Amino acid sequence: MALLSPRTEKIWRTRLSRRVHQLADRVAPPDQEDRLRRRVGGNWEVVGRLQFDFMVGQGFSPHHRFIDVGCGTLRGGVHYVRYLDSGNYYGIDLAPEMLEGGRAELTAAGLGDRSVHLRQSDTFDVDFGVPFDFGIALSVFTHVPLNSVVLCLTNLSEQLAVGGQFYATFFRCPDGPARRTPIEQPHLDGFSPAMTYCDRNNFHYSMRDFDFAAEGLPLRLEDLGDWGHPRGQQMLRVTRTD
Ligand SMILES: C[S@@+](CC[C@H](N)C(=O)[O-])C[C@H]1O[C@@H](n2cnc3c(N)ncnc32)[C@H](O)[C@@H]1O
Repeated sequence: MALLSPRTEKIWRTRLSRRVHQLADRVAPPDQEDRLRRRVGGNWEVVGRLQFDFMVGQGFSPHHRFIDVGCGTLRGGVHYVRYLDSGNYYGIDLAPEMLEGGRAELTAAGLGDRSVHLRQSDTFDVDFGVPFDFGIALSVFTHVPLNSVVLCLTNLSEQLAVGGQFYATFFRCPDGPARRTPIEQPHLDGFSPAMTYCDRNNFHYSMRDFDFAAEGLPLRLEDLGDWGHPRGQQMLRVTRTD
């Protein structure tokens, strides 16, 4: 019997486990809430809390106006909405059902009476007519091609307040030809590894890609590196300079 390399074996184990979950879902379909929580990547409690604590550590306060790009079903949003002064949370997402799911999550968390601004957009339209002090795109640049990153940063460069900070997570790759090789990203024990690619979802990027994406925009980019994400996502900080 041919032996598999450890990497191939891991990939097959991940695929098999995904397939088993799909079959289990057919026997007992998950409810809508579970289904949407899984679509944003699962790890609902861990990644929701982690991103919120990270933002607070950056100086994010209740009086700030906050934009959640690719907010999904408000995995982080529930924490942000609870913390912010009412009316200061803005979220956009591609998928209307995610936004509906997000509203249901707010109600379930006892936050249904808070004023929030949720918008469906597939063009990263973050123009709500107000400047943003803080923002995040958590697990979004990991799923979109570089042209979408360009569009997102260009729009944000006009809607962030001067000095406003936007954070985005990404999977890292080396520059040069080595970027073509699929990468199994590092992960904490108990979390599944992510495979990333240069030309398809999940996408990986280098800082040079982001520098290219922001060229000519009034933005300063900083590589914050590892911030404790269980599946190896790195953190980028983008600050509007003028
Ligand atoms: C992995 S989920 C993360 C959701 C949320 N940020 C969180 O931490 O739970 C990625 C989200 O990005 C949204 N998305 C992907 N491409 C987008 C785009 N071009 N514009 C807006 N949202 C997008 C998806 O619909 C999905 O809800």
